[in-house]
Amino acid sequence: MADLIIRNASVLDGTGAAAVEADVAITGDRITAVGSISDSAPTEIDAGGRTLAPGFVDVHTHDDGALLRHPGMEFKLSQGCTSLVIGNCGFSAIPAVPGESDKSGLIGVTPTWTDLDGFRASVTKANPAVNAMALVGHNTTRSLVMGLERRVPSDTELDEMRSYVRAAMDQGACGFSTGLVYEPGRYCETDEIIELAKQSAEAGGIYATHMRNEGDRLLQAVDEAIQVGTAADLPVQISHHKSAGRRNWGKIGLSLAKVDQANAKGADITLDVYPYTAGSGPMAQYFNLANIDPELAEVIRFASCPAFREYEGRMAVDVAADLGMAVTQLIHDVISAPEGDRTLCIQFIIDNADIEENLRHPLMMIGSDGIPDLRGQPHPRLFGTFPKVLGHYVREQGVLDLPEAVRRMTSLSCDRFGFVDRGRIVDGQIADLVLFDPETIADTATYDNPQQEATGIDLVVVNGKVALRDGTHTGVGGGRLLHHLK
Ligand code: ZN
Ligand code: CU
Repeated sequence: MADLIIRNASVLDGTGAAAVEADVAITGDRITAVGSISDSAPTEIDAGGRTLAPGFVDVHTHDDGALLRHPGMEFKLSQGCTSLVIGNCGFSAIPAVPGESDKSGLIGVTPTWTDLDGFRASVTKANPAVNAMALVGHNTTRSLVMGLERRVPSDTELDEMRSYVRAAMDQGACGFSTGLVYEPGRYCETDEIIELAKQSAEAGGIYATHMRNEGDRLLQAVDEAIQVGTAADLPVQISHHKSAGRRNWGKIGLSLAKVDQANAKGADITLDVYPYTAGSGPMAQYFNLANIDPELAEVIRFASCPAFREYEGRMAVDVAADLGMAVTQLIHDVISAPEGDRTLCIQFIIDNADIEENLRHPLMMIGSDGIPDLRGQPHPRLFGTFPKVLGHYVREQGVLDLPEAVRRMTSLSCDRFGFVDRGRIVDGQIADLVLFDPETIADTATYDNPQQEATGIDLVVVNGKVALRDGTHTGVGGGRLLHHLK
């Protein structure tokens, strides 16, 4: 007998096919029937004709630490996300030295583990509400082996980095990530990336990259990503594809054309995007203290600012005006202050037309890039990404249709990142599900009020368990840190 039956749903199976009216039965953690079901179950939910889809997969997150600090994962569950990819932009919870504090600002916990098995044990104990799949990060690995050295590694150092990447892959990571604008990743040459990506390739993994440049040299950076994929012979994921800075707006079409051309010649490149015109990250990483970029300073807003909490949620230009100082001086002072390197900022650098062009591309997945520092005023993408795509870009703007949008949030992502038996509503698949109303689904998180859960999502099921129902988080946990391809 089934444990749970969801009746009278408009089922989008995740493949991009049109919706069909059906009931769905769940037994244990699996879907055990899809169709007209005459049996009964101890728990039955009437979907009332609303849309039932596979749970969404957030393919670009920095939730490594959040799985431990915020195991309820309300900001993701409330968007309909049932799985995440962690360890992006080259920053990951592994490899680690126990007790060493996180300097990236993106992990947010002090490790008690050294490797992925150890981290998995901590995650299992925390019992988070959603599943996760890990990437092993280049910045983290390089810092561990050679600190912040601005040089190429010695053969011994490269070997040590290789063995860390290989160990993570052997323990179930889905790939290797870089963040080539960040320290120390930006000090590496392409050969180093290729050598480390080969370790991922041999284990059937992918290469996910925050490219070396997302503005003036975007196209050259895409060339480097393609080169790594070709030389190391593995699939490439271009993270948060964007063309940053007003003078670069419109380049997205050229960048996508490069990807299409490479794929036509045998490369295997996919991408992800977040649906906002602002980015966000560690402020100290975006500025050269000796020469603060005035154009970037103009479009910066403070998200988390431990040194000056009163600046959080404000544009730097407004704070500077109040203080009667140049905005470049303010940025300089904030970064140089104690704990200034922990400042997270939001930067308004993206054109909406580029977001729409990204969303139209058939290989474009959705990744929030949310940074889960809930003490400040985080970028609203942390709470709003998936509902914003479905509400604003699908329903209101018609940029892509609903079955296709769901495919790009589910089966495409699961296949790409090695989630086995997930991402489709088919008999035998694991029951990660979301029930929502496509007529009302909407993000409510704003830059001024970012910690707001979306509306229009009725039910989220993770590994067969009801994790969210009618706006209430049930607190059942049961998410797993998964093994790639297992
Ligand atoms: Zn990034
Ligand atoms: Cu990121």
